[in-house]
Amino acid sequence: MPTALITGGTSGIGAAFARALAADGFDLVLVARDIERLAESASGLEARYNIDVETLPADLSQREEIDKVASRVEDEDHPIEILVNNAGFGLHSDLLKRDYEIDVKAFDVMCLAVFVLGAAAGRAMKARGHGHIVNISSLASWIAQGNYSPIKAYVRSYSEGLANQLYQTGVGVTAVCPGWVRTEFHERAGIRTSKIPNFIWVDADRMVREALRDVRRGKVISVPTKRWKVAAFLAAHAPRGAVRWASRLLMKSRA
Ligand SMILES: NC(=O)c1ccc[n+]([C@@H]2O[C@H](COP(=O)([O-])OP(=O)(O)OC[C@H]3O[C@@H](n4cnc5c(N)ncnc54)[C@H](OP(=O)(O)O)[C@@H]3O)[C@@H](O)[C@H]2O)c1
Repeated sequence: MPTALITGGTSGIGAAFARALAADGFDLVLVARDIERLAESASGLEARYNIDVETLPADLSQREEIDKVASRVEDEDHPIEILVNNAGFGLHSDLLKRDYEIDVKAFDVMCLAVFVLGAAAGRAMKARGHGHIVNISSLASWIAQGNYSPIKAYVRSYSEGLANQLYQTGVGVTAVCPGWVRTEFHERAGIRTSKIPNFIWVDADRMVREALRDVRRGKVISVPTKRWKVAAFLAAHAPRGAVRWASRLLMKSRA
């Protein structure tokens, strides 16, 4: 059976990828920090889908742990057919604060790890002539929201570069750009969501179903759901001044 490795595969969007790929018959490698939760997720998925699930505890804000996961991704004896670079977390919008420790972690988890694991997967998959790398960006990559938008813009732009480098090698790359998805993301970051209307939220399983449809079609940029496609189109094509104005309104709503 082919194997997919999912970073942050124990919660939210990553867990939804785990369920969807398990249902498609993939064995899984789950990467996250919380060891107990990894074990619980693995046993639940194995029992429900009759697949093998390996757990790889790692903190992707630590460089040696990124390298450990990269070695697993590149292991020729246990090939990874799909890499989902998903682990991440939300950030507050303040760009003037003195303490930037959390931002360094954010760069490491959401940019450096994506880059290093993408390179490892790209090398291994190119040598085999098949495979797919899925990087979780965000609709926020088109707007102007603190340090989170530039980080997710990096993921989208990097994915296009990687897709070009792997063009016609049999290896696909997709940047998935979701809007608001109901997960632990906002609560963990202490982001208020009470003013965000219900209809804007999308369920993680539905989001992942649409993203995997785009992966199968070989799309390089995937914006799941019609409502977020419209929002992404506007954010990408409206005058930048209008996008910055809308971003300011959005930031007020979560302050
Ligand atoms: N939810 C949204 O509205 C939304 C929208 C657009 C994009 N996204 C993106 O989607 C991705 C997944 O977010 P989510 O909403 O599913 O959040 P979530 O429910 O909080 O899940 C985050 C996952 O990442 C893992 N993780 C966090 N920090 C890690 C680290 N340092 N090393 C290894 N694993 C780590 C967590 O496990 P441990 O805590 O055990 O490590 C968990 O499995 C993120 O990249 C996020 O930026 C989310």
